[in-house]
Amino acid sequence: MGKSAYIHTFGCQMNVHDSEKMTGILEEQGYSRANSPADADLVIFNTCSIRQKAEQKFYSELGRMKSLKKKRPLMKIVVAGCIAQQEGKNIFKHAPHVDFVIGTQNIHTLKNISSSTFERVAVQANPDIATTELPIKRNDGIRAWITIMYGCDNFCSYCVVPYTRGREQSRPSEHIYAEVSELAGNGYKEITLLGQNVNSYFSDTDFPGLLRKLDGLGGIGRIRFVTSHPKDLSDDLIRAMSELPSVCSHIHLPLQSGSSTVLRRMNRKYSFSDYLNKISCLRKQIPGIAITTDIIAGFPGETDRDHHRTIHALKQIEFDGIFAFKYSPRPFTKAAEMNSHVEESVKSDRLNEILTLQDGITLQKNKALVGTVQEILIEGESETDSEKLTGRTRSNKIVTIPKACSRKGAVVCVEITRSRKHSLEGTLVNS
Ligand code: 5AD
Ligand code: SF4
Repeated sequence: MGKSAYIHTFGCQMNVHDSEKMTGILEEQGYSRANSPADADLVIFNTCSIRQKAEQKFYSELGRMKSLKKKRPLMKIVVAGCIAQQEGKNIFKHAPHVDFVIGTQNIHTLKNISSSTFERVAVQANPDIATTELPIKRNDGIRAWITIMYGCDNFCSYCVVPYTRGREQSRPSEHIYAEVSELAGNGYKEITLLGQNVNSYFSDTDFPGLLRKLDGLGGIGRIRFVTSHPKDLSDDLIRAMSELPSVCSHIHLPLQSGSSTVLRRMNRKYSFSDYLNKISCLRKQIPGIAITTDIIAGFPGETDRDHHRTIHALKQIEFDGIFAFKYSPRPFTKAAEMNSHVEESVKSDRLNEILTLQDGITLQKNKALVGTVQEILIEGESETDSEKLTGRTRSNKIVTIPKACSRKGAVVCVEITRSRKHSLEGTLVNS
């Protein structure tokens, strides 16, 4: 019988997509997908270290593998992803039951997994990462992730990513065009271009140029991208978004804080008023655009006044949705070395205030959509109600509709009939 592998993925879309690449390589090596670690010959943890909590979650999962490994000593355990890159061979100190450590730039080495020369620790920088094509086994047949760049050069003072993912490298545009054309030919309806800061993509074209070319290829009705750094959001990108029919009317634009003093210490390279200007250009040129953001509560030295600036910013901008986190000190980062760390209880209070305020705003925004007609792409059965299907609007809002009305992969028009905190309900209209 062939071997089987189980991959446990933590963290962001980049990791989810890296796991699709790992699955692609393993499939070529004859591995099938195992349903659980208990059935697997190979278990891979694709890890995240963006905040302490993500790290703790991984270490507790890894701890649970100890007894399994004792029972089945031939099973191999691989730690991959950001914690692997950050810790290297130190992982073995924490967890001697781990067999291999593969950093973020060394996924390709998995093709040698069955060889006796397979390296125990592979965390070296890979200057060819952007030009090396890997096989990809996608989880979905309708929506696809596509990496357009690797790494990050921004060194925001709180962020571990430049240390775990290395320097920025853009993938050649012709590789991206070829992948998108193939996906279109295979019936994919939506793509999401991935990079730590897609706005600074650069090869023989810049990011707006890449979007124009992808739109011109045809065949994919919806193009999305994450993540955008406000400092690199150019007028030309806003123009491209407004002109290109396939580019969806949504942008995730992390603000992090409404205080320019905090933004400076975060090394974000924009002030709050710069950010506001970008928002007003986006809203002027792309009517109906949804804007979402990330906020960090309790960055070192954040005063009550700074926090209230963030609260004021949320009220003023009225984001469609936010992800908010308590500041978490990370290894290697400048912020971790700063004085005046904010007390945990204050961080929690600030985070709660931010989330409660935003819940009200999101609800209001969703309510305003009741009665409108929206195009949605059906993604599949609702997780909470098997009689319903869920899809997303072009502005990335989740909508559920009765199941009998449609099927996965269909693009349909629905009238929004009801709003909830995190989703909308709709019924099909004849278009
Ligand atoms: N603590 C809290 N949040 C963080 N983020 C990144 N690093 C940290 C940290 N050390 C958040 C930022 C970023 C999102 C992906 O994660 O808001 O935009
Ligand atoms: Fe981290 Fe800043 Fe790079 Fe985003 S842009 S990955 S927050 S360093």
